[in-house]
Amino acid sequence: PPVAARVIAIDGPAAAGKGTLARRLAHELGFRHLDTGMIYRAAARLLLAAGGDPDDGAAAERAARAMRIEDLGRADLRQETVGQAASRIAALEPVRAALLDFQRAFGRMQPGAVLDGRDIGTVVFPDAQAKLFVTASPEARARRRQEELRARGLASIFADVLEEMRQRDRRDRERAVAPLRPASDALLLDTTDMSADEVFAAALAYVNARL
Ligand code: DC
Repeated sequence: PPVAARVIAIDGPAAAGKGTLARRLAHELGFRHLDTGMIYRAAARLLLAAGGDPDDGAAAERAARAMRIEDLGRADLRQETVGQAASRIAALEPVRAALLDFQRAFGRMQPGAVLDGRDIGTVVFPDAQAKLFVTASPEARARRRQEELRARGLASIFADVLEEMRQRDRRDRERAVAPLRPASDALLLDTTDMSADEVFAAALAYVNARL
């Protein structure tokens, strides 16, 4: 893959704090930011809107190829149904291949880019200058997801949120293509007992030493 100007790769499971961290790092450094989960979600939404089945590879690939940058701002991409469908189409190799060019082009933007997802440091940008793998316990992540939902006026049951989190973790980790795992040269950050400010400070110190 082409070596980008400067790329910061942030990977990890859902609700571990990587989105918040990625946004703050991008803001601090004046870099562009791409939440790559949104491109899988946008493709999944297109597929569902067309009445397609997330396990139909050909239809999922068509949706991934039809995905445009304008689709990424939609509020309904955050819905749990879209997230579950995204996790299913993300297991399909043609879908991942269709979305790869988009991500690599984004990573070439000046003066640099922060991408967060599941396989940025392992597959999309194995040559990224800085790689972080952000985790937290499933319970801490379910609690954070519940707070996000509450902030959007949505009530939820903790046990359900935790179970959905576990299902999605399992699918993301056990898939054959680009499974969720830390790059061997990534800094591991377990944020279970860290505040957002502490996570940001630790990440920024590491990134500044690498760039
Ligand atoms: O981060 P998220 O929950 O918005 O991501 C939605 C799904 O997309 C997630 O279950 C796995 C998939 N995904 C992926 O496979 N690779 C990425 N780089 C980002 C997301």
